[in-house]
Amino acid sequence: MRSTKRNGRADEDAWPYLRELGVKLTNAPQPIQFQPNTSAPVHRWSPYVQGFSASFVQRTLDRYREEYEHPVVLDPFVGSGTVVVQAKMNGCPSYGIELNPLLHFIASVKVKTWGTSPQRLLRAADAVLASEVFAEAPSFLKSERHFRPPVLRNLERLKGGIDSIEPHDEEEQHVKELLLLAFASILVDSSNLKRSPCLGYSRTKIVEDDAPLRLFQQKVQHMAEDLQFCQTFYPLALETKSEVLLGNSMEVRPPESCDLIITSPPYMNGLDYVMNYKIEMGWLGFGRSHRDLKRLKDQMVVCDNVSKGLIREFEHSSRYTNPWIEQIKESIAENIERRGSYRRRDMPEIVHKYFDDMQKIMRNVVQALRPGGRFLLVVGDSLIADTYVPTDLILARIGRELGLRIEGLEKARERRSGQIRSYRLRETVVILKRG
Ligand SMILES: C[S@@+](CC[C@H](N)C(=O)[O-])C[C@H]1O[C@@H](n2cnc3c(N)ncnc32)[C@H](O)[C@@H]1O
Repeated sequence: MRSTKRNGRADEDAWPYLRELGVKLTNAPQPIQFQPNTSAPVHRWSPYVQGFSASFVQRTLDRYREEYEHPVVLDPFVGSGTVVVQAKMNGCPSYGIELNPLLHFIASVKVKTWGTSPQRLLRAADAVLASEVFAEAPSFLKSERHFRPPVLRNLERLKGGIDSIEPHDEEEQHVKELLLLAFASILVDSSNLKRSPCLGYSRTKIVEDDAPLRLFQQKVQHMAEDLQFCQTFYPLALETKSEVLLGNSMEVRPPESCDLIITSPPYMNGLDYVMNYKIEMGWLGFGRSHRDLKRLKDQMVVCDNVSKGLIREFEHSSRYTNPWIEQIKESIAENIERRGSYRRRDMPEIVHKYFDDMQKIMRNVVQALRPGGRFLLVVGDSLIADTYVPTDLILARIGRELGLRIEGLEKARERRSGQIRSYRLRETVVILKRG
């Protein structure tokens, strides 16, 4: 069936919503994405690609420098830690909140280990590379399919070497954590898998037997260089408070008020932030079974890979809604009916749950925002079963309902819809201010 949205544009479909909000969308093209982080000090310690760039966070801190000299910064979806790392480099105290324990570990290690001696780290890595102790691959994962046998053996050796370190002081504990982060960061590159951005098998990849050893050595070398760099160029940052809290942003709040909330929430319909990291979570012991992973996934902001049972439960819960959400749900349901099939028939409820989750999180973290503080969200809109979903504008509306002023809606770039390539979506920086 030919889609009514072919060659369409989200900016046109957004007009009625913008009119009702009484605000304008401004053009502010800028690089938002993570890619440049792969070579930036500290950010490059992990290879995850769904964040935003360190340069975006830097521009945001610079933009408000006059208003808040050393703002306290919060990211309630801290992921691999771009916001907290960049805030630390600027001497700004910061907090992150993250529900996935693997990502919590990654972001924490990236901010708490800056005082570690690079030489001590390199010596420990040499000992791991020489070790003959073998760990076992996680039993609930299909490691024999994920890795070629000699590669798997080398990974078990690296992990065994790291596990046998028994830290005697805080610095040694940090060394061990850095080595674990280096190990986690090379797993997908050592495997028969690729993450682009979802995890899947690669047909073309050739991984050499000693790849884990080489990649690990290289990663640790980068970490040692970056530690040296931070100690030389950011000596004050070493004293700057950065804390990453493990928990659900619907409930957890930082222990002090913040001036700036800078964040990129999961996109609707987007990535599964648990299954996509199952390899690293399994190897580092952050998930010991598929049941563990599912339990965690059910608490996350919803994605379209969620269990049907959870959505059925949601239908009978008391939940947030507004007229836009109701109208969008109706349109999605009608379109699915007209098509006769869709990858999820419960899509209207999934969309509803996304906004209910986001409202709960915004309502919670807004309470940590000081009067005069700003809440910036980088978010993309969606096209679902031929219905346009202006995620940015709905989040702006929720912000307003929570007492914030919509200060700006800046269109950072255009994106193509995954479902109808000729339809142009956008990525927006939503700027909300507390009066
Ligand atoms: C788009 S990513 C953020 C990426 C981040 N900006 C970075 O630099 O890597 C969204 C993050 O939100 C986390 N998340 C999802 N639901 C959450 C919740 N209810 N509470 C806290 N974190 C959550 C996911 O695990 C994921 O790491």
